Amino acid sequence: MCGIIGYSGHRPAVPLIVEGLRRLEYRGYDSAGVGFVQAGELSVIRAPGKLGELEKKLARQNVFQATAGIGHTRWATHGVPNEANAHPHRDNSGKIALIHNGIIENYLELKKELAAKGYTFSSQTDTEVLANLISEGLKEKGDLTKALSWALSRADGAWAIAVIHQDMPGVIHAARRSSPLVMGIGTGENFVASDIPAFLPYTREVVFLDDGDLVRIDADSWEVFDAATLAPREKKVQHIAWDVQSAQKGGHKHFMIKEIFEQPKVIADCLVGRVDHEANLVDLPEIEALGVPERLHIVACGTSFHAGLWGMYLLEKWAKIPVQVEIASEFRYRGPILDKKGVVLAISQSGETADTLAGIRLAKEQGLPVIGLCNVVGSSVARESDYVMYTQAGPEISVASTKAMCSQLTSMLLLALYWGRRSGALDQDTAARCVRELAMLPQLLEKELPGMREQAQRLSRLHAEATSFLYLGRDACYPLALEGALKLKEISYIHAEGYAAGEMKHGPIALIDPKFPTFAMALDDELFPKVKSNLVEVQARGGTIIALVNPGLDAGVDHSWVLPKAFGPLNSFLALPALQLFAYEMADYLGKDVDQPRNLAKSVTVE
Ligand code: M6R
Repeated sequence: MCGIIGYSGHRPAVPLIVEGLRRLEYRGYDSAGVGFVQAGELSVIRAPGKLGELEKKLARQNVFQATAGIGHTRWATHGVPNEANAHPHRDNSGKIALIHNGIIENYLELKKELAAKGYTFSSQTDTEVLANLISEGLKEKGDLTKALSWALSRADGAWAIAVIHQDMPGVIHAARRSSPLVMGIGTGENFVASDIPAFLPYTREVVFLDDGDLVRIDADSWEVFDAATLAPREKKVQHIAWDVQSAQKGGHKHFMIKEIFEQPKVIADCLVGRVDHEANLVDLPEIEALGVPERLHIVACGTSFHAGLWGMYLLEKWAKIPVQVEIASEFRYRGPILDKKGVVLAISQSGETADTLAGIRLAKEQGLPVIGLCNVVGSSVARESDYVMYTQAGPEISVASTKAMCSQLTSMLLLALYWGRRSGALDQDTAARCVRELAMLPQLLEKELPGMREQAQRLSRLHAEATSFLYLGRDACYPLALEGALKLKEISYIHAEGYAAGEMKHGPIALIDPKFPTFAMALDDELFPKVKSNLVEVQARGGTIIALVNPGLDAGVDHSWVLPKAFGPLNSFLALPALQLFAYEMADYLGKDVDQPRNLAKSVTVE
């Protein structure tokens, strides 16, 4: 996820673009850059790090003449966040500059083809390949609009792009497929951007672009074409009433709810480049050289630890790999005796959690290879691990982790499929069915989320007086119970405990009374009868129960929350947002600071 903006008008473009990037920084912040034509020459200025680094660079130069340009704030998915990989990228002629949000999936193929024609590359990015492909198109077509259409017809993947050319100083071309792009229509000025806040101080007149749109703007005009045929496309200009803050949250009240609703896309993005949907195969080139581990030690904290625990159930079942999951702060001090043939998997959204990093160092001291599963490209976990698998979830702003866990579960599922098939422990039919259903999961989740939110709203209102909650689940639902309890306590400050349902009678059952509700996961699997009898035990003590169930199942509880039934492990991807939404709605109803709960930091970089 990156932020892009393009401007053509009558104001100094570079300061305006930088200001727009500041409002897009929530979309990515590991490097930034601008491109503009001034005194007949195309300039590109880029800097790694937060936007402030780019501003420092710009402050040393005269950048006030250009009245058109493009800007990019990056959240890396490929290639470390350094200056060479920052956008804009230029073609070999130095006349074209391109910014891009998305992934060109066939960029290696295209790069080879271009290299054979003599093109050279100075970055590891797919974007530089596209810049040169447009350049190649320009040679053939002699017109930038046609060149862009041609280049995009050769590309696979997702993009929102904006392009400028030295010989067309006031003109910006842009296009979208599967990545957000909107156009802002002003008076004597026009904009394209990933999101409305980028230009909201200047105009509230917006055109929402669709997949397959190709746009040409200058200061006084705008046109939209079909990217493939270049036939004109009709568009409606809409007036936006949001303020900047709510626009950054996509109209949502909090980043947390926005991120919960992003989960269908998070699943789809995590699969990009890893799943061959035609052959129903999973390929993880980033860990190919490692082979199938004989034993896995998973090390993580908080929500990432719960994702690891969830992975344990699946990896043991499907890949038949013995797995041990440990809280990093315990692992680092207990003097673990690690199996030399084992592999350590460190899970961290931020990639900066101090205890998880200490766990990595300990594993390396003992000579074990480490896989870092993290979200932030170029983070310490990524740098210190021997192998890195990125979860590709985009920046997570809310302190309470939601979409990151969804991406971690998706990654664990991919690992189980990949290793399970490589070792032969998992049969082809199960793997193929899972891959098929996984591809349809984002659509299913997208459809279900609004109704789930309503249910969460209703149930949270009914239980808003509770001061304690018990969360119960068995098997893969046990880590989800831990996560549900963590979410509730961290944002609503209601005490909650997650327990393995069968363990409840060994102590916590003493707490149950009519004022102590239980939130259970009683899904349609072989353990349903066992969970049901645990719930009967709760009811016998007068406890009220909310239970996540599947259609046709009677858990006999006070509040059955019915979720559609999915294939095996995919059921967790429906249960997880239900738990997150319940915690969110409860905290919001109680008036808590949802995105920045008290006493918590987004990344815990100290012990
Ligand atoms: O960045 P990490 O995944 O390493 O962070 C681990 C925990 O600090 C994090 O999951 C924390 O528990 C969140 N507040 C959970 O919502």
